This record gives sequence, C-alpha cells and structure tokens, in this order.
Amino acid sequence: MQTKEAEQSRLQKPASEFRDYANAEPRVAEFYRLNHTHQTLDFVLEKKRDYLALNRKTLTVWEALEFLETLVDDSDPDIDFTQIEHAVQTAEAIRASNQPRWFIVTGLVHDLGKMLCLFGEPQWAVVGDTFPVGCKWSPKIVFSDFFEHNPDTRVAKYQTENGIYEPGCGLDHIHMSWGHDEYVYHVVKDHLPIEALYMLRYHSFYPWHKEHEYQHLLTTRIAKWSSGCARSTATTCTRRGRRAPTSRRCAPTTRIWSRSSSPRRCAGSPGCHARPRAVSIR
Ligand SMILES: [Fe+2]
Ligand SMILES: [Fe+2]
Repeated sequence: MQTKEAEQSRLQKPASEFRDYANAEPRVAEFYRLNHTHQTLDFVLEKKRDYLALNRKTLTVWEALEFLETLVDDSDPDIDFTQIEHAVQTAEAIRASNQPRWFIVTGLVHDLGKMLCLFGEPQWAVVGDTFPVGCKWSPKIVFSDFFEHNPDTRVAKYQTENGIYEPGCGLDHIHMSWGHDEYVYHVVKDHLPIEALYMLRYHSFYPWHKEHEYQHLLTTRIAKWSSGCARSTATTCTRRGRRAPTSRRCAPTTRIWSRSSSPRRCAGSPGCHARPRAVSIR
C-alpha cells in the first residue's frame, strides 16, 4: 500500500523519469536477475508448447481483469497500482486522445497475458521487458549484465549476431523471451486488427521500439509502422494516467468495453465465446 507522500511524488514525476532503472527499488533488479538468468531458448520453446494450445481455462475478459487485481508487477519501477487499475488507466488515456475503439480495447486488454501468474508462473516468466532468444543479447536490454548467468552463454551459435535466425527474417519468426505479450497475442489474435496485434505482442520489446536494436533481423517493409504501433502502446502504458482511476473517469472506458465485440475469449480457451459482462466500476 503506498503512502500519500509516495502517491504525491509519483504524480509529480515528469515523463522523462519513468523507466529509471538506475534508481529503481531492489525488487526490480532482483526481478531482472531471475529473468535474464532463466529465459533461455529452450525455456521459451517449452512454454510455447505448454501454453499455446490455449486449453488452460475459460474466463471472460472481465473475470481475467478481476484476477489481475491481485497482482503487483515486480518489474515495473513506476507503478504501485493494481493491474486492473493499470488496464483501465491505459484504456482511458487512449480514449481521451480520441483513438478508435479497437485501440481503446487494445489498451484495456494489453496486459491480460499476466493471467499466466494464475497458472503458477513466476513473475520473471510473465512480465518485464522482452528480447529475442537464440541470438546475441543487445547491451541495451535493461540490466543486461545479468545475462552472464544465462546457460545460453555456453551455446556459441546463440551468441552470434543472427543466432538461429536468417538476417531479415522478420519479427514473426523470432522467439521472444516468454511472457504476457506473447500469450495475450495468441489469445486474441483472431479478434483485433493487425496494428493491435503488434501492439500486444511487442509492447514490452523496448530494445526494439525504444532503442532500435535488432534491425538486422527485421523486414524493412513492416519494421517502421510496427515499431510505431508497439511503441505507442508502451508509451501510453508507461505514462498512463497518473491518478488512480475513479468511477467517473472510468465510465467512458467501461461503457465502450461493455458494448465492444472485441476479444471474447481469454486465458487460453479456444472454446470460450462468452460475451464480456456489461461492467461498470462504481
Ligand atoms: Fe505489459
Ligand atoms: Fe501495461
């Protein structure tokens, strides 16, 4: 629970001071130590086999959001809000900037993949910045020194510029470190436009959309606009509303959500077509 002083200080923080990992709490460094130590190519392939059959559980989108209420993201140096507050804040910031409905819905569901925590996954396998595995790590990945503990350092091919990939193979052919971006992408991919899918799948890929790394693996045709898509979500997510959502501020978002025909299945069930509940936060 944050104090009134901490909340006041966060509200006054300029945008340039978000993602300040040099002065982050120890929990953030410990998170990335675990993440960078254990996110190997084999680990990612195993998680994809395990989760992408989407046969774990059936929940409505709002039920999934309610579960996220219990989660505080250990990788995030800027946030003390619950995940449901964060989801609504992000969607509401997008709505307030007059973006289309699909974009607002994308903001609302962008972190639903954190449902992985419900299945017992540790946070280092769910949240945090993402990066390609099976090739050399960019030094611009946050806390990149921690990769020295990763077993993939002992696989020579994985330490080359292209690793297991062909140059210019495109993002779709790259295995990213496992987490909530990849999972939510697979859950909703049949329900949202392609721009939304890039936003969802790569919004935590800061080494690409912020640092412009890994250009040698991308296809030039899509690199520019897809990077913009992912970055716009990440930026909105990072600079999200600086106040906790209240019923009045959230009303527009929840009205849009309750009428939306966007993703109706969640948490990995191909058979779940339950309509989102008509929800209101009051
Ligand atoms: Fe996220
Ligand atoms: Fe987020």
